[in-house]
Amino acid sequence: MANKPVIFVLNGPNLNLLGMREPEIYGSATLDDIAGQMEDQASALGLDVEIRQSNHEGHLVDWLQEAAADGAKAVILNAGALTHTSVALHDAIKAIETPVIEVHLSNPAAREEFRHKSLVAPVAKGTICGFGALGYQLALDAASKF
Ligand code: DQA
Repeated sequence: MANKPVIFVLNGPNLNLLGMREPEIYGSATLDDIAGQMEDQASALGLDVEIRQSNHEGHLVDWLQEAAADGAKAVILNAGALTHTSVALHDAIKAIETPVIEVHLSNPAAREEFRHKSLVAPVAKGTICGFGALGYQLALDAASKF
């Protein structure tokens, strides 16, 4: 049987702490909760998800390149704070054809000024933010339609 299309779900710095990190901003779901939910949703959609987290910028760059080399259907990326600083992630997204959906649990535009600029947004296919963990489901739903 043919392999199912794969969606990479990449999470950046501090997202391993979801559930206990500022729950009033990021909610009470852990990254494992989100991953479990996405795996169920992916299987219902006939997709596979490859869900990863790293606190290191270079890992995210490597994984974006890997997603492209593996022919992933899309990447869902919550780059955490690197969203606001990383030219390397901007360039990595620009360098690949794979569509990248930017996700944030919170709405950065409604927060501190330093979160208002995203270096991911100009090279992303689209952005989903402000809906908590639901944003990952919405992104997977969108990616399934590419
Ligand atoms: C975040 C928003 C970023 O500004 C922040 O640095 C994060 C999480 C979000 O999901 O809301 O780490 O990406």
